[in-house]
Amino acid sequence: MASAIATSLEYLVEKLGDPQAQIYQHLYQQYPEVLPLFVLDTDGGVRGAMLQTTLETILDYATHNRLDHVSLAAWRSHHVGYEVDAELFARFFVIIRDCAKDALGCEWSLDMEIAWAELIRQVEASEEA
Ligand code: HEM
Repeated sequence: MASAIATSLEYLVEKLGDPQAQIYQHLYQQYPEVLPLFVLDTDGGVRGAMLQTTLETILDYATHNRLDHVSLAAWRSHHVGYEVDAELFARFFVIIRDCAKDALGCEWSLDMEIAWAELIRQVEASEEA
């Protein structure tokens, strides 16, 4: 089931090419207060690294059907320094899911919906661990 996540990301890249612009647009629309946090990232390099790390976490989960809680916890605590709390941190996964769902339109499947919901549930639960 988790492999449906990898399929959804493949489609996302097929539809949008590099999805970075759309994903950050979704982020700023929903959380305009985070925009100033990236002001020093003038060339988008840090945001690129952040998206890359998140996508790697997602694809690792999709491959092994297991979330890397240790690395996720490390990144989460790293973000305390940016004043990004655990709840907002987890929202980035939701934003990527929503962006994929928008881009896929009617190609978004029930398997994808269920697999993403489980991943997001685990990311949120991992906050409380
Ligand atoms: C909405 C949620 C998130 C917000 C608002 C956020 C915010 C930030 C900010 C402000 C920076 C530093 C920008 C700079 O130095 O110019 C950053 C860097 C980074 N973030 Fe996030 N982040 C979020 C979620 C995540 C998630 C879920 C991951 C990975 C699982 C992640 C991984 C990274 C990485 C790899 C970097 C760059 C490397 C570093 O800071 O040393 N972020 N993030």
